[in-house]
Amino acid sequence: MPIEGWHGWDDYAPFYDWENARTVGRRDVPFWRALAVEVGGPALELGCGTGRIACPVAADVDRLVGIDRSAPMLARLRRRRSRRGLGSRLHLIRGDIRFLPFAPSSFQLVMAPYGVLQSLLCDRDLRETLRAVRTVLRPGGHFAIDLVPDLKNWREYEQRVSMRGRRRGSQTQVTLVETVRQDPDRRLTHFDQEFVERRDWRSTTHRFSLSFRTLSVRQMAARLRRAGFAVRSVAGDYQGAAWHPDAETWVVVAT
Ligand SMILES: C[S@@+](CC[C@H](N)C(=O)[O-])C[C@H]1O[C@@H](n2cnc3c(N)ncnc32)[C@H](O)[C@@H]1O
Repeated sequence: MPIEGWHGWDDYAPFYDWENARTVGRRDVPFWRALAVEVGGPALELGCGTGRIACPVAADVDRLVGIDRSAPMLARLRRRRSRRGLGSRLHLIRGDIRFLPFAPSSFQLVMAPYGVLQSLLCDRDLRETLRAVRTVLRPGGHFAIDLVPDLKNWREYEQRVSMRGRRRGSQTQVTLVETVRQDPDRRLTHFDQEFVERRDWRSTTHRFSLSFRTLSVRQMAARLRRAGFAVRSVAGDYQGAAWHPDAETWVVVAT
């Protein structure tokens, strides 16, 4: 079976929050909250995952819908949603972002945080998703995209211990052993992950792979235009700094 960008996320779910607390953290959350306040709802988050963005943003709009293909990621988000009492504001749907199951012009804002469009591994998948977003977005509505640009520049390495730490509130020690492979012809970066959990004298290893496709800003902008969007801004960080090729993140807002 060919690799698909949605592969691997079910197995990653138990480790996603643990790893992201050590990487992106909540750095991008104020940007998404401010945008949601400015643009207003109803809003849709593509690839809402465990709710890192969805939960804080749900407090800022009258209605937020999150869609994700991974049942284990959504299960975590459901638990977080009920802990925070967000049940009536945050609606969750298990589905694929290439085929959005919503009526035309349903949303004022569509958010694609933290490289979710990079989980679309070929042009056809990106084209289908952009078309689907165009359809569900209201005229004049905003489509905001955060891309992780440096993936294609990562050095390849094999079986490196890239992170280690305790699970919050438990004695379990987690180690991430990672292999990075690049496929420049297809603009793909593959992460082969091994999460090793140790508790007492027992150890369990969870293995899976995640793949991402990284386009340049110019290529992404061209695809947005072809799908009927106008690119309004491209920033190089979450505070709105000017974009440059080495920027740590690329934040594109289109209408
Ligand atoms: C990088 S995580 C982002 C999660 C969350 N938005 C955040 O910022 O923490 C990407 C999410 O997209 C989901 N995903 C990947 N490909 C998908 C697809 N084709 N359709 C729906 N969800 C997808 C994965 O299951 C995962 O939860």
